[in-house]
Amino acid sequence: MTEGIIGKEILGQFRIIERIGKGGMGEVYKAEQPAMDRVVAIKILHQKLAGRQDLVSRFRREARAMSRLTHPNTVRVLLYGQLEDTGQLYIAMEYLEGVDLARNTQLSGPMDPARASRIMIQVLSALQEAHEVGVIHRDLKPENILLTTQGGIADTPKVLDFGLAKINDEKMRPGSLVLTREGMVFGTPEFMSPEQARGETLDARSDIYSAGIIFYEMVTGQLPFPRCKSMEYIAHQIKTPPIPITERRPELHLPPELDLIIGRALEKDRNNRYATAMEFAQALQALLPPGEQLGAMYSMPPAAAKQSPPPPAAAAAPAGAKDRQGKPLVIALIAIIVALLGLVGYLLMAPDQPSTDGGAVVPVSAPDQP
Ligand SMILES: Nc1ncnc2c1ncn2[C@@H]1O[C@H](COP(=O)(O)OP(=O)(O)OP(=O)(O)O)[C@@H](O)[C@H]1O
Ligand SMILES: [Mg+2]
Repeated sequence: MTEGIIGKEILGQFRIIERIGKGGMGEVYKAEQPAMDRVVAIKILHQKLAGRQDLVSRFRREARAMSRLTHPNTVRVLLYGQLEDTGQLYIAMEYLEGVDLARNTQLSGPMDPARASRIMIQVLSALQEAHEVGVIHRDLKPENILLTTQGGIADTPKVLDFGLAKINDEKMRPGSLVLTREGMVFGTPEFMSPEQARGETLDARSDIYSAGIIFYEMVTGQLPFPRCKSMEYIAHQIKTPPIPITERRPELHLPPELDLIIGRALEKDRNNRYATAMEFAQALQALLPPGEQLGAMYSMPPAAAKQSPPPPAAAAAPAGAKDRQGKPLVIALIAIIVALLGLVGYLLMAPDQPSTDGGAVVPVSAPDQP
């Protein structure tokens, strides 16, 4: 794609303002949509990806799944398809102002674990929704997480490019081995799970591993293995245990329990990792100040909760909701006990009292009566 597209109108409704950036699969543009009076971001994939029918169908499948995701920490997909003239695949999304997590670490260095946890819990919660509907991200890395401010709330991460790695099928840039056909490697070596590195079929736990590495980098400013060439890095993902964060940055005095929490996400065998993104999120709650229960705000969507047993974090309903359900039950029980006590009292006293019509209603307040 050349700069020639700047200022042009595409799809009869968007006018391209400028190029925001360039990634492995294509370029992202800022555009305005006058009819809606809004600014959008349009990712236009390389022309070479448009020529293959299998990739186009895969793109449509992934984009459709992505456009169904509604989580507040997932970028909203507005439209997808192929450009009329070039046939290039595109995805129009909400435009986000912010800085990606990779840049943020470059600019500000390691983050305080509580802040990093608040951000990661939201990312995991977005992953949980996607995993529930069968969408695996496959290329979760700091560049694909934008830190934005939404409705005045800072540190709101937005996850980009869900499932898009599945579209690509060749090595696109240094450091990024990409592919999707079974048995072949794709993803970004630094954030790739061991099973991804071995070219195996992936499930949601691959994203959990990648999230673990991202979190490691957020709190230490470094990766869990020594810097090296891509292929060596892939070998590290498969067999080298991560350097404990307390050894990686002893001067930061990070809490030792962090090693346990991250270590579980980074287990080589996916059966030993957190089973769900929500389980990882729940473990991160331990790093928040006492009383702060961020996870409760990000419980699973109700439809998903019906399909599988809710993970512990999802079960944590807001305290207010619990109270609302619990109070009427307690009041009813107290009323029954008082009524029974009244009845017992009445029966004990009954022989001394004149018999009435037998059909008398025993008032709950009987003991107070003269
Ligand atoms: N919806 C959006 N709003 C604002 N900026 C965006 C949006 N989507 C992507 N960007 C930015 O556009 C740039 C290019 O993104 P792109 O996804 O193409 O590259 P990448 O993430 O570096 O690599 P990859 O292709 O492997 O995902 C990045 O700087 C990204 O932050
Ligand atoms: Mg991206």
